Amino acid sequence: MCGIVGYIGDRECTPILIEGLRRLEYRGYDSAGVAVLEPDSAGTLATRVVRCRGKLGNLEKLLRDSPPTGRVGMGHTRWATHGRPSDENAHPHKHGSVSVVHNGIIENYLALRASLSARGHKFTSETDTEIIAHLVDDELKAGGGLREAVRRALAQVQGAYAIVVLSDAAPGSIIAAKNASPLVLGVGEGENFVASDVPAILAHTRQMMFLEEGEIAELTRGGIAICDLAGKAIQRIPRTIQWSSVMAEKAGYKHFMLKEIHEQDRAVTDTLRGRVSIEKADALLDGIELAPSEMKKLTLIACGTSWHAALVGKFLIEQIARIPVEVDLASEYRYRDPIIGPGDLLLAISQSGETADTLAAVKEARGKGATVMCIANVVDSSIPRACHHALYTHAGPEIGVASTKAFTTQLAALVLLAIHLGRRSGALDEARAATLIREFMAIPQKMADVFGHSPQIQVIARRYGKARDFLFLGRGNNYPIALEGALKLKEISYIHAEGYAAGEMKHGPIALIDEHMPVVVVCPKGPGYEKVMSNLAEVKARDGKIIAIATRGDSDIGAIADEVILIPDAPAPLLPLLTVLPLQLLAYHIADFKGTDIDQPRNLAKSVTVE
Ligand code: F6R
Repeated sequence: MCGIVGYIGDRECTPILIEGLRRLEYRGYDSAGVAVLEPDSAGTLATRVVRCRGKLGNLEKLLRDSPPTGRVGMGHTRWATHGRPSDENAHPHKHGSVSVVHNGIIENYLALRASLSARGHKFTSETDTEIIAHLVDDELKAGGGLREAVRRALAQVQGAYAIVVLSDAAPGSIIAAKNASPLVLGVGEGENFVASDVPAILAHTRQMMFLEEGEIAELTRGGIAICDLAGKAIQRIPRTIQWSSVMAEKAGYKHFMLKEIHEQDRAVTDTLRGRVSIEKADALLDGIELAPSEMKKLTLIACGTSWHAALVGKFLIEQIARIPVEVDLASEYRYRDPIIGPGDLLLAISQSGETADTLAAVKEARGKGATVMCIANVVDSSIPRACHHALYTHAGPEIGVASTKAFTTQLAALVLLAIHLGRRSGALDEARAATLIREFMAIPQKMADVFGHSPQIQVIARRYGKARDFLFLGRGNNYPIALEGALKLKEISYIHAEGYAAGEMKHGPIALIDEHMPVVVVCPKGPGYEKVMSNLAEVKARDGKIIAIATRGDSDIGAIADEVILIPDAPAPLLPLLTVLPLQLLAYHIADFKGTDIDQPRNLAKSVTVE
């Protein structure tokens, strides 16, 4: 999510850091900063931190007149998670002699902050990162050197992190550590580098080592030493990275969309992080407490792909929490003089947090006295600012115009919400909640498993990619997934596609079916499976070509479908998180086969800020 770059060597580091950050700007851009060990007139090194809100250009303006001079430093571009974008929340965070940049989410940060406060620590930001600077500074004072201090501090931390730490009390090294967020080490001659991503340092070295989970690296001018969290030394041989700089930005994938499709297991893990507890059999919403008994009406609104997430959300909340839900297109809702008022909850869903229709609907509902909440990806964007409560998806920046990881993280946030409401409405008992949460936590691994079908889907894409029209069918909570599959195909391949509730096919669209019409059907085992089978028989009787997304172990589907993509099984409420993945890949491979501009399809914008 955030971008990190660090340098130790004999060159002036500020230009190296800024150039590296420029290459990472696509990862996050709400604020930026650098920390450099700068010599004073007596030659003593002191850390100078320069940071500010806004794009990297703002930082460059700040640095123009007196850039920090020094040969050890680190930089950061931020994509906010804890704390809104502001000068105070920008990284690096400094406490005592210790400065830290961080990418990730510290799950136990509230507990750590409370215990540090009780020991007299004062904080100047709203971030989870600042507590790391406090912990390391305390440990450094206890002795043993900077690496040891970081190691002891991290033993207290739970969550995902990639951090780089420097201290003017230990100016001969910089320390990097990783758990669940990426970090790469660059090996130079008399200089070494660390970064969150390869592009940041590719101009300086192609010799790189990737840090693994729970590893700490100490970079000096002369070398890099790696150890684990227990302090045991680890040997790693650098690899030569062959990527061009353009490939490196996309982590070796051909398009940002493909990269983002493959990031979804990680992104969903981040949405869940620190918010589910099997022991408590509950989902926590960052301090938001919803009381179903006081909620007169619950309405979900959104546009496009986010509206499809809202449609799944209706199934989830109604099935799990037994609370009735209305869903509306934000662009329709706002012009209808909607019936909403005090005691009602309006939930807006938006990746960008800037969609004009969704924002206007939020303002309309709030103006009429309703409580307004959102599920959003971009922290402190206009929609969260206009709401009473915001639940962030933590998907990280989405660059491809066609939404993929934003969608699945919205689904994950809606599952959290449904569990939260279900526990409070009484509809979800403790045992069922614990089972559902356990299955929910297994979903990222199952998502990664589905990506293994990409080569098969590529073959299917070539076989059917010349069709003029596609039909997508699904039932229940996979009906919105059929809509989403059709939208993905339309927007990036420009092939006409329609999504339908499978039971509706006989009321009209069946007239379209002939031997030239591929019908993609989402039919995992579960409620409604038999009914979908009957619908497929109707397609087959008219020579339609069937591409089925089915559950592994389904021995019947092969007899009727022309192509079968098998996904792992999961409880019905969680299946949309898996069934959508083959549809994203199918749209992607068809568009790639056709050679369209996948990341920036014609006529589309990433965030629609006009009505
Ligand atoms: C489709 C897509 C759009 C957005 C829609 C709403 O792939 O990305 O349909 O979902 O424009 O955008 P947000 O979620 O930013 O409000």
